[in-house]
Amino acid sequence: MSAVISEHDARTQHWRDDFPLLSRQVHGKPLVYFDSAATAQRPRQVLQAMDDFYRQHNANVHRGVHSLSGEATDLFEAARRKLCQHINASSEREVIFTRGSTEAINLVAQAYLRPLLQAGDEILISHMEHHSNIVPWQMLREQTGAVLKVIPVTDSGELDLQALPELISERTRMLGLVHVSNALGTINPVREVCALARRHGITTIIDGAQAMPHLAVDVQALGCDFYTMSGHKMYGPTGIGALYGREALLEAMPPWQGGGEMIRTVTFEETTWNDLPAKFEAGTPNIAGAIGLGAAVDYIAKIGLDAIAAHEQDLLQFATDKMREIDGLRIIGEARDKASVVSFVIDGVHPHDLGTIVDHHGFAIRTGHHCTMPLIKRFGLPATARASLALYNTRHEIESFIPALRQACDMLR
Ligand code: ALA
Repeated sequence: MSAVISEHDARTQHWRDDFPLLSRQVHGKPLVYFDSAATAQRPRQVLQAMDDFYRQHNANVHRGVHSLSGEATDLFEAARRKLCQHINASSEREVIFTRGSTEAINLVAQAYLRPLLQAGDEILISHMEHHSNIVPWQMLREQTGAVLKVIPVTDSGELDLQALPELISERTRMLGLVHVSNALGTINPVREVCALARRHGITTIIDGAQAMPHLAVDVQALGCDFYTMSGHKMYGPTGIGALYGREALLEAMPPWQGGGEMIRTVTFEETTWNDLPAKFEAGTPNIAGAIGLGAAVDYIAKIGLDAIAAHEQDLLQFATDKMREIDGLRIIGEARDKASVVSFVIDGVHPHDLGTIVDHHGFAIRTGHHCTMPLIKRFGLPATARASLALYNTRHEIESFIPALRQACDMLR
């Protein structure tokens, strides 16, 4: 790629400079990373925070009387506090560290809903859910005899809000909805859906894994009961994420996993539970991961989600316009409210072949079902190609993607 940087790209170049991995090459070409919806790259601030922890403060958290343990606990709990403020939870007791969004949804399925469900009770999800917001409910269906209902998606990739009221019944116990679709980019009207659910006394869980890197999330304003997130989608480490839950619900729930940390007292006859949030954090937590996630929150907050969203919306529009010029290219997911994800298919070209060829030009895109098999099938497709854009991407990268796509088409058609 040319070293000339446009005025637009120059404004965000210093963000990009924070990501060491982006300066490497693939197949002798500069890497262009268009796979941030699968996992984002990490800025040096996150790498540094984790490195500092292991080099300077590593010890187990809580209940240690020695200095290192105190330091590790302070760093770990500071990360929880940052996340709590970032999503505007009303208390740190409402923020439970998990391995990610998937584990958070499983926690709610098993610890919150399972004890409440009777055979015939209903769980409502949408057709655009990630497998992580489908399979835990199916497992619960097998365990309890509950019924799983699905809100349809329109041809443009939006939630079919007109169909929603009819799907709600007096047996609906839970409504699960993805905030931002990883496969289509659709931003769902979460506040509106949660308000409707609340009027019917239905508990809500929002899968925020893809929303957190793109949108300012205020769980109180959204009005949800549970909200889940994954660190690695928001420039933090893998293997760490969080569950937000309203305190009254978390208090009433039994623990999910048993072990150290989550107990107050243990005898062979009886065990009593720790307070929130420890009640749901059995075992030694991912301490470095949580600290890295705290650093990622600081990083996002310092740039500002408004600035990130404005940049990504510019890239999304730019990419959409340029890609539409390619003969036979069809974008899958054209919601009015959309985050920076472009899923597409090209007539006569299999997405996997396309992904392999553009990789040889340095472009990392994702191809397949994106862990949303029912959704991709809904569009009558076996797979799509997906370019997902983040704060470090540039217009220049998009411009250089177009000839690579054209060349791949020429080879494959
Ligand atoms: N589900 C992740 C994605 O969207 C891995 O690519």
